[in-house]
Amino acid sequence: MKICFVASECVPFAKTGGLADVAGSLPIALSKYDVEIKIFLPLYSVINRDKYDIKEIDNIKNVPVKLGENEYEFGLCTCKLPRTDIDVYFVDCPNLFSREKIYTNDEDEDERFILFQNAVIISLQYLQWAPDVIHCNDWQSALIPAYIKTSYSWDNLFSKTACVQTIHNIVYQGLFEADTLLKANFTKKDFYVGGPFEMNKLFCFLKAGIFYSEKITTVSPTYAEEIKTPEFGTGLEGILQIRSENLTGILNGIDTNIWNPLTDKLIPYNYSAENLEGKKLNKLELLKSLNLKVDESIPLIGIVSRFAWQKGFELLQEIFEKLIAENFQFVILGEGEEKYVEFFEEIMLKYRSNVFVYNGYNNELAHKITAGSDMFLMPSKYEPCGLNQMYSLNYGTLPIVRKTGGLADTVRDFLEYEENANGFSFDEFDSLELFLAIMRAKKLFMNKSEWKRLMLKGMGEDFSWGKSCENYFQVYQEECRALNAKDAKL
Ligand code: ADP
Ligand code: GLC
Repeated sequence: MKICFVASECVPFAKTGGLADVAGSLPIALSKYDVEIKIFLPLYSVINRDKYDIKEIDNIKNVPVKLGENEYEFGLCTCKLPRTDIDVYFVDCPNLFSREKIYTNDEDEDERFILFQNAVIISLQYLQWAPDVIHCNDWQSALIPAYIKTSYSWDNLFSKTACVQTIHNIVYQGLFEADTLLKANFTKKDFYVGGPFEMNKLFCFLKAGIFYSEKITTVSPTYAEEIKTPEFGTGLEGILQIRSENLTGILNGIDTNIWNPLTDKLIPYNYSAENLEGKKLNKLELLKSLNLKVDESIPLIGIVSRFAWQKGFELLQEIFEKLIAENFQFVILGEGEEKYVEFFEEIMLKYRSNVFVYNGYNNELAHKITAGSDMFLMPSKYEPCGLNQMYSLNYGTLPIVRKTGGLADTVRDFLEYEENANGFSFDEFDSLELFLAIMRAKKLFMNKSEWKRLMLKGMGEDFSWGKSCENYFQVYQEECRALNAKDAKL
């Protein structure tokens, strides 16, 4: 089976969040089946060409693409996904991808990803490679299913190609003014209220992906249910209800080669469930290196996150002083909205010996926090899957989470699950509930044997891609079979 995996970020090349982890690990997991996978990404200028030995492809250069009135040219470059035999293809168009960041608020943000998607299809034509499945991820690749079924449907290369659209976060929909339609080379008659591209009179990339794909997946079973409701669906609940028979929630897996306390090269002391001494040493080392008060008995809460509304930090802001009074320490790593940065930096100045905040992206520190903290906090307002709670569970760092999306599917609260518990969770998006959950965690932290029992539970859990990868493969197979059956009828 041939799979074309299209994403706007992928580890190790370019990353802002969990999509990159998924794009860099699901294809590797899928390789155990009889599949050939090609990954497609934009060649952002932040990607280090030399480091990954990214080479131009000779006969795919200066390819013209007309987007409405504007003309662009792209070239195709390639390298292997490190430590694998998987081909990664990069769409090179410096006009659009040579920017300071992966995502921008620039006026041509729509064109950047319209060009990318057209270039992916045109490259497949150049390569004469007919995928059985094009797996699209989030809004940045959600027009591809529409193109395959409309403007490129003349090409027999795609006559047996099914499209799968994965929603990693439904709040990011790719919403632009209506004239984006023309830049995407659709016509005015394609745009009508309630139509595949329209959402509140705006052009919506993700709606098209949901409309035109054979299958829609999202990244946890609970989120698959949530997004069919007005509270979570943010306007797309209607079309998701209509397509619910073709919507599946598949929990993300984690790359256990990268996130494994026994082999992790980014933490000072490796450890495992059999020998937890290293975990304690990681905590002491982390406190020391960050100039925090070194006292093993104070519970240390870790946070590694985008600073975004989604992540629920309002709740933490409301109770922060109370938590300091209850003698907690915090190590916080994050990047994003200024209002959160300001808040966290202020409290760091105020409580220097108990709070450390790093504003920015820092992979090494992310690993050290995951290994060195006692508890890991994710009070998300919504969380499609969430990877950090799985990383921390496997590192013996007990998660405290809001019971939503993938957090609800992976963290089992101590009160509710007792013997089977692996962490702490709270239901309502409410600061008192969060406070009580953290205090429950503290109480258990004082009971060393119970705490260790929960640590071992989480460390023993299998979050690798195994089962989820099988589920994706099944989705691909079903779609291929369905298309072949349709073909046979014709
Ligand atoms: P989301 O994709 O919504 O940001 P996930 O939990 O799925 O949330 O994935 C976040 C990923 O990004 C994790 O691998 C996490 O460790 C990483 N990450 C987030 N913020 C930072 C940061 N400031 N520095 C380093 N890694 C980060
Ligand atoms: C999104 C979600 C996150 C999920 C990630 C990977 O960024 O916010 O919950 O884990 O995608 O699917």
